[in-house]
Amino acid sequence: MNKPLIEIRSMDVAYKKQKVLRNVSISVFEKDFIGIIGPNGGGKTTLIKVIVGLLKPTSGAIEWTIERSDIGYLPQGRQLDDKFPISVKEVVASGLERGLRMGIRSSIQERKKIDEALERTGLTSLRSRPIGELSGGELQRTMLARATVSSPRLLVLDEPDTHVDNQFEMELYSLLKDLNAQMTILLVSHDIGTISPYIKTIACVNRNLHYHSSNEITNEQLKIYNCPIEIITHGTVPHRVMKEHKQF
Ligand SMILES: Nc1ncnc2c1ncn2[C@@H]1O[C@H](COP(=O)(O)OP(=O)(O)O)[C@@H](O)[C@H]1O
Ligand SMILES: [Mg+2]
Repeated sequence: MNKPLIEIRSMDVAYKKQKVLRNVSISVFEKDFIGIIGPNGGGKTTLIKVIVGLLKPTSGAIEWTIERSDIGYLPQGRQLDDKFPISVKEVVASGLERGLRMGIRSSIQERKKIDEALERTGLTSLRSRPIGELSGGELQRTMLARATVSSPRLLVLDEPDTHVDNQFEMELYSLLKDLNAQMTILLVSHDIGTISPYIKTIACVNRNLHYHSSNEITNEQLKIYNCPIEIITHGTVPHRVMKEHKQF
């Protein structure tokens, strides 16, 4: 098998004295689409921050075979002060290595990338709009366009589905599925039931991590791992809960 893009071995992560992740091991292989689930406070965001290089493990090891610039990252929550006088297009451009200078002098190739990112997130007509005049969902789409504008090898999304409306949520997942043909994706989501048709494998994070090399998971497993049980309320066939969600 190819070398993984990222390999984490027996990793602990703590904030000051509080240990948040214990003995976590996972390898992220090229073209995987991992859905990361787990209860609030279970350590999903902490794991993501280690993966993108913002936090260091307290023990254990993490190895990257990719560069930081190969990772597109959409952090959890609002990351922008929406009073900052900047347009949608400028935010998206800031996802390219040369960042905001792009707005002033960008090459044809760079402009093409920005246009494509705006197009696939449905933001073309809002390109010049100041971000302070966007809805929550539009701002989230802007952040997604920013995270993908450089065509990263690894795309890391921490609950990108929080502020978006139902319709865009479906578009978002199907967009991610398309992007997965070119890039590896890590997606933290509350709603494993909805994302399961799109993802390839599942990581349950609740202080420790259980990796499932399939997009199905049984209710028994969820219970053992103390994972969120939202899907139990959706599904009717206990062992095939994920299969209940192919409803398009
Ligand atoms: N910067 C921080 N300093 C101290 N504790 C933190 C910090 N960030 C998160 N935590 C704690 O770490 C635990 C895991 O948080 P987090 O990784 O955000 O979980 P999740 O994303 O699964 O909701 C929580 O108990 C949270 O309060
Ligand atoms: Mg989180």
